Amino acid sequence: MKILVINGPNLNMLGIREPKHYGKETFEELCSRIERKGADIGSEIVQYQSNHEGDLVDKIQEAYFTGVDGIVINPGAYTHTSIALRDALSSVQIPAVEVHISDVDSREDFRKISYIRDICVKTISGHGTDGYLEAIDFLLEGYKK
Ligand code: DQA
Repeated sequence: MKILVINGPNLNMLGIREPKHYGKETFEELCSRIERKGADIGSEIVQYQSNHEGDLVDKIQEAYFTGVDGIVINPGAYTHTSIALRDALSSVQIPAVEVHISDVDSREDFRKISYIRDICVKTISGHGTDGYLEAIDFLLEGYKK
């Protein structure tokens, strides 16, 4: 199974940005943890982070042509604004899990709006960075059927 893990804007600042919401683990540490998870479960995991909306759209489109079986996506602030990301995910029809490190539903009202939630197979919010690993497990389960 090939899984693409996508992180949107400012997630590269993990460990520095607002530890009260996002914890102290650095982005590099998280990426290493995800990489180890891939090795443990014997799956190819490709990771991508960008601060630019169009680049994220490009990566989702590329997933269609490179045989990605599942997407784990934390679009950061684009969650609450981006019809382009939603349309990209709808276009490729690859099962996607929406992940948020913080519990977006218990924060400001604008964070309660997600343009991708209803087209994702699952949302994991507020489980810290463990949410990414849970999302990978969820996709893996789906493929065992
Ligand atoms: C986030 C929540 C978003 O509201 C915020 O803009 C982020 C991170 C999260 O992981 O909790 O950048 O997606």
